[in-house]
Order: sequence, then C-alpha cells, then structure tokens
Amino acid sequence: MGEMPSPIIETSIMQNPYDLDSTDAYLRWRDHKLANAITDTSELIVEINDPRALTQAEHAALLERCRRSNMAIYATRTEKPDEEMVRQFGLQFGLESLDANWLAGEQGITRVTVCADDGQRQAYIPYTDRAIKWHTDGYYNPPERQVRGMILHCVHSAGQGGENRLLDHEIAYLMLRDENTDFIRALSAPDAMTIPERTDEYGVARAAQTGPVFSVDPASGRLHMRYTARTRSIVWKQDAATLAAVVALEKLLASDLPHIHGTRLEPGMGLLCNNVLHDRAAFSDIPDSPRLLFRARYHERIAKS
Ligand SMILES: [Fe+2]
Repeated sequence: MGEMPSPIIETSIMQNPYDLDSTDAYLRWRDHKLANAITDTSELIVEINDPRALTQAEHAALLERCRRSNMAIYATRTEKPDEEMVRQFGLQFGLESLDANWLAGEQGITRVTVCADDGQRQAYIPYTDRAIKWHTDGYYNPPERQVRGMILHCVHSAGQGGENRLLDHEIAYLMLRDENTDFIRALSAPDAMTIPERTDEYGVARAAQTGPVFSVDPASGRLHMRYTARTRSIVWKQDAATLAAVVALEKLLASDLPHIHGTRLEPGMGLLCNNVLHDRAAFSDIPDSPRLLFRARYHERIAKS
C-alpha cells in the first residue's frame, strides 16, 4: 500500500484542527482537505474484480479515495453477492464491529428492500420506497455504539429512482466553520440534538439520545457527525444559535456545492465510507426484481483512512 500521509495525521500531531481555538491547525487541515477533496463523482468510482479478495492495487485505489473524501464507490461484476461477501470486503478495511440492528439479519448485515407485508419493518422509511432526507447512519445510537464506517452494496437497483446524494461530513464542517464558527460551536454542544425515546407495545424500545452533531472520535482524533434532516422524531436545542446553525446546514445540503455527489448504485456497485452524509430519492420497483441493498454499519472507521 502506498504511504500517502493522511491529511489529518499530519496536523493532529500538533493540534486538533477541530478545536475552535486552533485556527492554524484548522487552516492547514482546511487547505489540505480542499486541495484533495473529490468534486468529480466519476473519480470516486473504482472497478474491482472480487470484493472478497481485493488486489493490492484495488485496495489502494479505494483507500486513496476514502482518505481524500471519506468515501469510495466500487463496481464489480462478481456473481452471487451475499452478506458474507460484504463482511469479507469490509474486513480488508479493518471494518469488524458490526452494529447490531434489531431488524438486521443474523450476521448484522441488513437487507434494505421494500417490506410491504412486514408490519414491523414497514413502519421505518428505509424499508419503503419513499425518499429519505439527509442523514448519517445510526444518529440515534448511544455514544458507545456510534456508526463510523458503512458499506452499502447494491444487488438490484430500482426500476426508477433511488439515487443517493453523498457529502463528506468533513466538507460540511469546513463550509459551516468558514461561514461562522458559532455554527460549529452550537452543533458541537452535547445537548444540541435529541432523538426522543422510541416506544413499542412492550414499552421503551430505545431510550432518548441527546448528543452533539459534531464531535471528535477520541480513538482516532477524527471528526464524527450525527445528523438527520428529519423534522419528526428529533428535537433541536431551542436556542437561536442552534437553530441558526441547523438552517445553515440545511442550506448547504440544498446547495449545488461541487462536493455533493449525486449517484445511483447499480447492481454490483457499492459505497464504502466513513458514514458520510447521504440521502435517498424515492423510487419505484420492477415487480420481479425489487431494489435490494446490503447495508453494513460498523463502529470503527475505515482503517488508515
Ligand atoms: Fe443511511
């Protein structure tokens, strides 16, 4: 593997660029980020042969994109994809700790598809054909189970629609910080965002989660983001600074920023990322071949990214 230095490691040796008092470290990190961040979506894509056993060159190409933009898209013609293939692909990037999802299959990898006749899943938007607003995955998870890495592998695409937009959360941070450091201060507050408890027929199925939007992962020193653009089942801290920051972020996500990648995963394509911001367009299925994606969420980031 090439020894390209990570843009973050270079600066974090001295100071944390995400510290609002470390302007020099931030500006160095910012320059490096903007100079390297991918703005041409086709540059994200790497053709690979077998996701279960990447060649050194394939691995290096995917990692290089993740270092620059926290994400890469692979395209493979491999036959018979299954959950085990996704798991083996992830292991090659140090992705090991699958987030246990109560709706996931036994291996902890979820089949995301329309579940018309499953009352439990049907209540959740991912298992419908509806649009999903901008978010990071697992924003409702407790602190010890934050989702830092993710793989989304497309088995069948929709008849129409189902596109994703993707934005490196570090770019979102950078743009907001450039606009007004108060936005970052507000969104880093430990009580910025609360996901209310979820109850079901047995009582409280998931406790309320209060936490920041932006935080620094102590293990890696890297930026982590929890966010959803949903307006239901989320309570923002009701002060002017937080609400202004939320509006600024919404504006950014609705902008034509060149770092926002619009893409549609076709069969054999997949997203490997450090849980970047993403959304999903509504779609309609072909009856005999409904849209199906395998989704794996991990507690760790992509190794060496
Ligand atoms: Fe998601």
